[in-house]
Amino acid sequence: MRLVLVGPPGAGKGTQAEFIAENFTIPKISTGDIFRANVSGGTDLGKLAKKFMDAGDLVPDEVTNAMVRDRLGEPDASDGFLLDGFPRNVAQAYELDSMLNDLGSSLDVVLELEVEHEEVVKRLSGRRTCRNCGHVWHLEYDPPTVVGVCDRCSGELYQRDDDFPETVRHRLEVYSAQTSPLIEFYISRKQLVRIDALGAVEDVTDRAIAALSAARS
Ligand code: AP5
Repeated sequence: MRLVLVGPPGAGKGTQAEFIAENFTIPKISTGDIFRANVSGGTDLGKLAKKFMDAGDLVPDEVTNAMVRDRLGEPDASDGFLLDGFPRNVAQAYELDSMLNDLGSSLDVVLELEVEHEEVVKRLSGRRTCRNCGHVWHLEYDPPTVVGVCDRCSGELYQRDDDFPETVRHRLEVYSAQTSPLIEFYISRKQLVRIDALGAVEDVTDRAIAALSAARS
């Protein structure tokens, strides 16, 4: 299964990516996670990406494309992958075609997580992420037992720098202007499958797995 997840900030892509990747036994490749790991590690890539991420803008295509090309060339991605956060505009989608073509493969399906605007704002304002294992919590919808501490690994929970209200507003505008055209792009290629991403996390996972299994058969 070679799969792309698409949806607005806060749609639950990262949350669902974990379960979907586990179900289909494929690696989850999240461009946001790779950028954040580079920011934490203080690498040159991280320093460059941070400026764009903190502003809620996209990191330039040439930087992102090179990073994804390297990652898709790793052995664990040879039999399938789940891309979370890439492509994020039509130019990146064409670049993904070219990467896969060079690797002798192609994309199977694009899963869109559909959620209303008010809900994503609620989800992002309550999100807390573990500094250690990266697991994502929510203060109201999926709260940790002890405030500020990850139930899974006891790591410290933090609020992402790009989850403050002004930046969230801008990220949603960037999604509408630059990323949402991908929906029509993949519809026209008959590769898009859409699910309602409202409701309990487990219910959304069940819907996603059912839709992807149907698309594959
Ligand atoms: P990235 O990390 O990809 O951010 P995003 O796409 O804005 O998505 P989020 O991670 O904010 O949300 P999500 O959909 O994963 O939701 P989550 O599962 O966490 O990118 C960050 C930045 O990196 C970009 O702004 C850009 O600068 C850069 N970047 C990344 N990729 C790039 C690219 N290709 N090109 C250029 N730049 C790039 O869920 C959110 C919250 O909701 C959580 O608290 C969760 O617990 C909760 N939740 C999830 N599901 C449910 C549910 N069903 N019910 C209730 N709560 C739920």
